[in-house]
Amino acid sequence: MAIKKYLPCLLLLCVSACKKEDVIRIGIAGPLTGDQAKMGYDLINGVTLAIDEWNAKGGILGKKIVMLKGDDRRDPREAVSVANKMANEDVVGVIGHFNSSCSVPASTIYNEAGVIQITPASTNPKLTEQGFKNVFRICGRDDQQGLVGARFVLERLKKHKIAILHDKTTYGQGLADEFKKNVENKADVVAYEGIVQGENDYTAVLTKLKQQTPEVIYFGGIYPEAGLMVKQMKEIGLEAIFVAGDGVIDPEFIKIGGKATEGVYLSFGPSVKELPTAKHFIDEYTKRFGEIGPYSVYSYDAANILLSAMERCKNTERDKVAETLRNIKYDGAIGHIEFDEHGDVKVAPYIFWVVKDGKFVPAQ
Ligand code: ALA
Repeated sequence: MAIKKYLPCLLLLCVSACKKEDVIRIGIAGPLTGDQAKMGYDLINGVTLAIDEWNAKGGILGKKIVMLKGDDRRDPREAVSVANKMANEDVVGVIGHFNSSCSVPASTIYNEAGVIQITPASTNPKLTEQGFKNVFRICGRDDQQGLVGARFVLERLKKHKIAILHDKTTYGQGLADEFKKNVENKADVVAYEGIVQGENDYTAVLTKLKQQTPEVIYFGGIYPEAGLMVKQMKEIGLEAIFVAGDGVIDPEFIKIGGKATEGVYLSFGPSVKELPTAKHFIDEYTKRFGEIGPYSVYSYDAANILLSAMERCKNTERDKVAETLRNIKYDGAIGHIEFDEHGDVKVAPYIFWVVKDGKFVPAQ
């Protein structure tokens, strides 16, 4: 009698518990609202494509893969709250975050919970230097990017009077500092200034820089601010060449900055379109989502490598999957991927790009 009475409740409990067991959950975290939302959706699209392809082949260990989205709004505090939610939701791993200022604080939470974190885009060296066994990155690092940037300005552009700007974030300031370290004994650094993200008017700081007549402005930051800055540089007649890093390479930069973006140089990975390994990704992504974002392919590979590790170790326990990832050899759309002892990719080339006729084209 008692069993009969409680049967519906027991069944309900079983259904919700079984439901969790029957699927494999992976998270995607990044800015899904606000001025960097485009970046978050580029990551979601890449992960969606990877998951759908695995599910079409029957999933992993007979289970369907589902995606959980977390919006960090490019805010470090939100990122920590997203990380806590992901850890409580039983995700095996998270693809994210986009900003280093979010990935680094979130990594502490993921590490405590054992959740695997694979960032497709966060380039600050600190992320993988904390000794965490569960943290990986598919992109390069800003100590590499800052060095390449310095060489490009000094040797290729042959400019030696430089102003440095950054957005005071983990990424922006970190990249600006790496660049500075590599130019300061070989060039005249005439200014070093921080700006605040999300403002509309940067003419005050640009006017200050104009007085120093720099030949180059190197910017550590993201495209919404960079787009406004190049526009406002033109408006006040500041003629310096604008050079930046991976955070600026998106068509949104050209939309915001308009014609003023012509001739802007940026460091980023090599063109995906030239890679034979990326053909399938390009065809499928374009068919479903249209234009490929700069980090879409990195998120596709990040999701695929995480799922491949589960398949290879025939397990979804976080620590077993992390251990498999540490030793994995994986051929992705961006090419061959292996991680070093920090969780960084062993090969992460940077090249320079330039805006020409409203498009990004390789400068080398
Ligand atoms: N590479 C940029 C960062 O680390 C997107 O924040």
